[in-house]
Amino acid sequence: MTPAATGIRPLRASDAEAFSALRRELCALHPVQMGISLEEELQRPIESFRSQLSMPVPNAVFGAFVDGELAATAAVSRSSAFLAAAHKMTMWAVFTSTRHRRRGLSRRLVEHAVAHAFANGIHRVNLTVYLPNDPALALYRSLGFVECGREPDAVQLGGRYYHGMQMTLCKAESADAAYEYP
Ligand SMILES: CC(C)(COP(=O)(O)OP(=O)(O)OC[C@H]1O[C@@H](n2cnc3c(N)ncnc32)[C@H](O)[C@@H]1OP(=O)(O)O)[C@@H](O)C(=O)NCCC(=O)NCCS
Repeated sequence: MTPAATGIRPLRASDAEAFSALRRELCALHPVQMGISLEEELQRPIESFRSQLSMPVPNAVFGAFVDGELAATAAVSRSSAFLAAAHKMTMWAVFTSTRHRRRGLSRRLVEHAVAHAFANGIHRVNLTVYLPNDPALALYRSLGFVECGREPDAVQLGGRYYHGMQMTLCKAESADAAYEYP
């Protein structure tokens, strides 16, 4: 059997339908971990995804394609428009279709998105994992992310609250180099 051809590239506005379809698959299975119910995800207009996928660099959504099918994604976005926050980005949209799990796609995509952020002058990448989510915690820890806080009741779904684990990764060469605590 021929091995599946896998490639990673930034998603564009024209990938909005595939991005939305993959998100819907994931929200149906993992609403807590995705931080949104399937019902709410189904209400989101395709135009909002086209806008997300058109944000200027260093914002980026990367997709892994297996035999031409979008199988997994990982994204980084600016946390704020203020210059004082220009050194950091938020990682989001880390997910892999159930058909392509445990093949290293998320590892490659997260590494790719982090490298992209650091290559664009970003000093720190932050993210939140909605709990429980041992696979995601293991993934991020294995890539050097460390836990830096816990957000109580980070999401509410089906009448229940779920906590968020905040994690952070600092660009290696700048780690601890330029901190000034008051
Ligand atoms: C978490 C998730 C993104 C991992 O995707 P994946 O492509 O299967 O992950 P990879 O194959 O790249 O695995 C990388 C590492 O993640 C960890 N991991 C992944 N799946 C795991 C599982 N089921 N149990 C424990 N660890 C797991 C392991 O450390 C793994 O490294 P290893 O294979 O060398 O042991 C995927 O399970 C998913 O989409 N989950 C639902 C959405 C979600 O929770 N996204 C994260 C939001 S913060």
